[in-house]
Formats: sequence, C-alpha cells, structure tokens
Amino acid sequence: MPLADGAPATAQQTNGVDDAPVLEVEGLETVFDTRDGAVHAVNGVSFHLRPGELLGVVGESGSGKSVTMMSALQLLPSPPARRTGGMVRFRGQDVDAMTPKAMRRLRGGEIGFVFQDPMTSLNPVFTVGFQIMEPLRKHLRLSKPEARKRAAELLAMVGIPSPEARLNDYPHQFSGGMRQRVMIAIALACEPGVVIADEPTTALDVTIQAQIIELVKDLRQRLGAAIVWITHDLGVIAGIADRVAVMYAGRIVEEGPVLEIFEDPRHPYTRALLETMPHLEGDRPQRLRTIPGQPPVLMETPVACSFAPRCPHAFDKCLAADPRLEPCGAAGHRVACWWTPPEAETEVPA
Ligand SMILES: Nc1ncnc2c1ncn2[C@@H]1O[C@H](COP(=O)(O)OP(=O)(O)OP(=O)(O)O)[C@@H](O)[C@H]1O
Ligand SMILES: [Mg+2]
Repeated sequence: MPLADGAPATAQQTNGVDDAPVLEVEGLETVFDTRDGAVHAVNGVSFHLRPGELLGVVGESGSGKSVTMMSALQLLPSPPARRTGGMVRFRGQDVDAMTPKAMRRLRGGEIGFVFQDPMTSLNPVFTVGFQIMEPLRKHLRLSKPEARKRAAELLAMVGIPSPEARLNDYPHQFSGGMRQRVMIAIALACEPGVVIADEPTTALDVTIQAQIIELVKDLRQRLGAAIVWITHDLGVIAGIADRVAVMYAGRIVEEGPVLEIFEDPRHPYTRALLETMPHLEGDRPQRLRTIPGQPPVLMETPVACSFAPRCPHAFDKCLAADPRLEPCGAAGHRVACWWTPPEAETEVPA
C-alpha cells in the first residue's frame, strides 16, 4: 500500500554522494554491569547502512541483535548498560557528540525504531492517536487536524480497521499484533531516512506480516529509506534483504550480500542457522531443528572463537585465537572463522 507516488530510489540505483552510508557503526562495545559482574553483550560490532539498503540482522536469542542497535542510538538505560568502545555516525555526524536536542530529533524523526516489545514502548496513559500525532506535530510541524488526518492514514496503512475511531483508543484496547502495527505506524510517521525494525512482524499473522513487509519495501523504494531488519526468520530475510549480518555472542560473525549468504555460507554458525530453517520435504513438513549446545555466558571479552564449543569443525586454533571478520568469497562477503569449507578451499583469493 504505497504512501504516495514517486520515483523509486533503491540502493542499486543510488550512487556517488547519495550512496554515502547513512549509518556507520564501528567497533561498538557495550557491557551491562550486573551483580555477578560485567556482561559483555556487544563485542566490537561494525557495520554500515547505505540509503535504500535493507540489512537483515539474524542470530539466536541473546546474540546481541537488539542491544547492538539500542546501544548505537543510546537507547539503553545507563546503568546497567555502559558503552565501552566504538563510534556511531549518522549521515557522517558523530552521534555521541550530538546535543540532546539533535539526539531527540534523530530518535523522534530521522530514525524510526520499531521495538521488539510494543507494550513497553507505547505509553498506556495516552491514546494511540495522541502517540502517533505527537511526532508529526513536533518533527513535521503539522497542525492538529493535519496530524489527525495523517495519523488515521498511517493506521489504515498498517491494516487497522476503522482507523478514525481507533485513534481515540488506548494501547490496552488493541491486541498484541495490533499494538505492534501501531508501533510500526509511529516509526514510519515522519518518513524517516533509517528504520530499525526489531522483530517487527513476529507477533503478526502471515497476511498482516506480508502487508507490513510490502509497506516497508515501499518506503524503501520511494524514499530511499535504509532499513535494519532484526529477525529470527531467515525466510523473511531471504525475501527482502540486500545484505545479511549474522550475529553470535555479541559479534557479527558473517556478513554479505543476501544471495551469497544463502548460497555460499562460510561460518559454521550461519550454516547451522540455515539448516534449522523449516522447509517442506515431500508433503510432510520437516521437524524444526535446533543448533545443539548453548550460547556462551558473556562474562568476559572472548579470547577464542565463541562458537568453538558448539562447532563441528573447530580445531586447535579456534580455541587459541579469536578470528576477526575478513573478506572471503564474493565482494562484500566477510567471515570471522579459521575454518574454510571444503568447497571453498580451492578458491583463488580476490
Ligand atoms: N539489562 C541487562 N542486564 C544484563 N544483561 C543484559 C541486559 N539486557 C540484555 N542483556 C544481555 O545482552 C545479551 C544480548 O541481548 P539482546 O537482547 O540484544 O539479544 P537478542 O539477540 O536481541 O535476542 P532475542 O532474539 O531474544 O531478542 C544477552 O546475553 C542478554 O542476556
Ligand atoms: Mg532482541
């Protein structure tokens, strides 16, 4: 459902100055100070996002997907969270050096955040209409009637029936899936240049999920918005992402163009994640597989490969030294792993 007509501006079509990254994260490190010690939740994460690009972020529960994005935008309460390293730039500007006013503009209008848990991010004491209209009035300076009209359009756009009337309702009067859609409407309200969507469609049924995906695709095409889409669902990623970052133990362990990740996965963890993807074999759905073993407890900065204890290919070096992300395979493909899959062993380095 398009917001309006306009020329497409995808990542492939932008170039030169326009192609400069909108969001750059370099060496991000974040710990949580707990009674048991510091939990190293983000351990040197670097990535960039270009206009119109959709970066899929995947990884098991606890791998640091949400914390990475929230830490980058200073959305974590401190204490217990503490940034211990790294640099974040939005349109070339150091986010850490921004004034509180610039930071509010960034978070309220220029970057739209769809949080994983809609109930904690919607305010129970204000109507849904008020919560959608507030950023429209503050950041786009719309009048009250204009903001109300736009808010109803946004609710209609995310598939909420009788949008006009629902503007007067409070969050508890909406179902879980509807609250998630309201969150999406708020995140998209100011037509932001960057959308960070943390498991945006997990609680939604497949029809609504497909609608939301179409909506986000449209925003990206029309406005050149760049999107970070965090999910467990590799199927969704396969359908919408340009690039994929695979996270494990607070690190990106593999990153690359989406086709490359699906056709030539290099990290044993990525390979295991792909094997856990449900798919139909014959007429019978296959049993959902899981990766054996547990993710590590992040009480120390890793000195060896964090995946080694669960890895079927681990050898001496994996327990002695922590691999860094290094180029492999096709352009833009990087992996942090000492092991080389047999099919890639004869590859001539680029
Ligand atoms: N308040 C906190 N105190 C201590 N540790 C925390 C806190 N919040 C998060 N963590 C730790 O940070 C790590 C990363 O958590 P994060 O929520 O980013 O995972 P995730 O990849 O988003 O998982 P999920 O898929 O379940 O959403 C986890 O090990 C988690 O236990
Ligand atoms: Mg999360």
